[in-house]
Amino acid sequence: MKELDTIKEKYPTTRAAILPALYIAQEKFGWLSPEAIEEVSSTLNVPKALVRGVSTFYAMYKHKPMGRHLIQLCTNVSCMIFGAETLLELLKNKYGLEPGGTTEDGRFSLVIMECIGACDRAPAMLVNNDFHSNLDDNNITEILEKYK
Ligand code: FES
Repeated sequence: MKELDTIKEKYPTTRAAILPALYIAQEKFGWLSPEAIEEVSSTLNVPKALVRGVSTFYAMYKHKPMGRHLIQLCTNVSCMIFGAETLLELLKNKYGLEPGGTTEDGRFSLVIMECIGACDRAPAMLVNNDFHSNLDDNNITEILEKYK
């Protein structure tokens, strides 16, 4: 991947480039498959075990195929108080989505996340890189229907 070569040139050491390289690989492949790990390892000329170790340390890296759209729902204290649990039930009932799961059609994956810094607008979630807040049973469905 050409982007990986570009990243390599931007950092003083190849080890320093592992995190951004993993991010690019994940964007490209949708998850960090063994092939994606190999690609990062060979491009940066660092051991595969090191790349895998770094990738498994951070929750932002995915190690199994994900749906086209990743829902990251906050269930920390404020969001839970303001209805995140109800939203989880809705996602389960309407889309068959469980935390850590993917819809049968590959449209959505759901992960639970810690506070995303929007407690004053709880409950909140990210869909891909889009932030959504003040969620309830009605607007979460409207929001998700925009992601095909
Ligand atoms: S607890 Fe959910 S955004 Fe802070």
